[in-house]
Amino acid sequence: MYEAFFGLRELPFALTPDPRFLWLSETHQEGLATLYYGISRRKGFILLTGEVGAGKTTLLRTTLHHLAQDVNVALVMNTADIGSVDLLKLVVAEYGLKGRFETKADYIIALNQFLLEQLRRGLNTVLIIDEAQNLQVQALEEVRLLSNLETEREKLLQIVLTGQPELLGKLADPSLRQLRQRIALEHHVDSLRASEIEAYLEHRVQTAGGRYDDLFAPGSERVFFEFSQGCPRLVNLLGDRTLLSAYAQQVRRVPVALLEQKAKEMVAARSRGTASAPEPGEGI
Ligand SMILES: Nc1ncnc2c1ncn2[C@@H]1O[C@H](COP(=O)(O)OP(=O)(O)OP(=O)(O)O)[C@@H](O)[C@H]1O
Ligand SMILES: [Mg+2]
Repeated sequence: MYEAFFGLRELPFALTPDPRFLWLSETHQEGLATLYYGISRRKGFILLTGEVGAGKTTLLRTTLHHLAQDVNVALVMNTADIGSVDLLKLVVAEYGLKGRFETKADYIIALNQFLLEQLRRGLNTVLIIDEAQNLQVQALEEVRLLSNLETEREKLLQIVLTGQPELLGKLADPSLRQLRQRIALEHHVDSLRASEIEAYLEHRVQTAGGRYDDLFAPGSERVFFEFSQGCPRLVNLLGDRTLLSAYAQQVRRVPVALLEQKAKEMVAARSRGTASAPEPGEGI
C-alpha cells in the first residue's frame, strides 16, 4: 500500500478497532472509564450506546487490554438475529462449559454453578455482548435472567451491552422494564467535536509513524469535520481514500482541494447507494 511513500510504518486510517489508535476525546474517555470502573468494581449491568462507527468496539477492546488478570471475559460479537436459547448456547460455549443442556433451566443452573466457582477462585466473570441492537427482544429477556445471578452480597456476572441507538428502542419494550432498571452504569458515545478532529487526526497519523502536518495541508480539519460530522469511521474512510489518491498522483502532502474532491466523490457515491460508500454524516 501507500504507507512507505508517505514515510509511515503502517496505515493510519484502517477501519479495525485497534486500541493502539484510540484517541481519548471527552466522550471516549468517559466511555472507557464507565466500562473499566463498571467491570472492575463489579457494578453488574453496563450499557454503552453510540451511533454507527462512533468507537464502541474500540472502547471495548481497549478495556479488555486494561483489565486485570483476574477477569474472565466472554465476548459475544456475532449477534445477528440471535434468539434466546442461541444466546445461552453461545455464552455457555464461550465459558467452555460442557454438558447436556436441554431446557433453559439447564443452562442457567450450569452457569450459576460455574459463576459461583469463579467467585470462590477470586475471578470476576464478564459477559460482553457487542452489537446488541441485533438481539431479539426474547434474547434480551435472557440477559435479564443472567443479570439475576447473584449472591446476597455481589453480582456473579458483569454484563456489558453495547450497540447502536436502536438498542435503546429495544430496551424500551415494556417486557424489558426490569432489565432497564438493572442498568447500573451507562454512557452514550457522542460524535467528535469540530475542535477535537485535529487532535484525533494527529494521534492516528502519529501512531502510524508520521506527522499529520506533513500529510495534510492546513485547513484540512474543517473538511474532515464537515464530511464526517465527527464520526471517526467516516474520518478514517476519507483519510484513507485521500491518501491513496495522493499516492497515485505522487503528491506527498495532500492539498485541501484534493481532500474536498474526495469528500465530494464519497458523498456522490453515497447518494448513488454504492456499497462502499459511507452511511451517516452530512457531507460537504
Ligand atoms: N476515539 C477514537 N480514537 C481513534 N480511533 C477511533 C476512535 N473512535 C473510533 N475510532 C476508529 O473508528 C473506526 C470505527 O470504530 P468502531 O469499530 O469501534 O466503531 P463502532 O461504534 O463499534 O461501530 P459499529 O456501530 O459499526 O459497531 C475504527 O477504525 C476505530 O479505530
Ligand atoms: Mg462495533
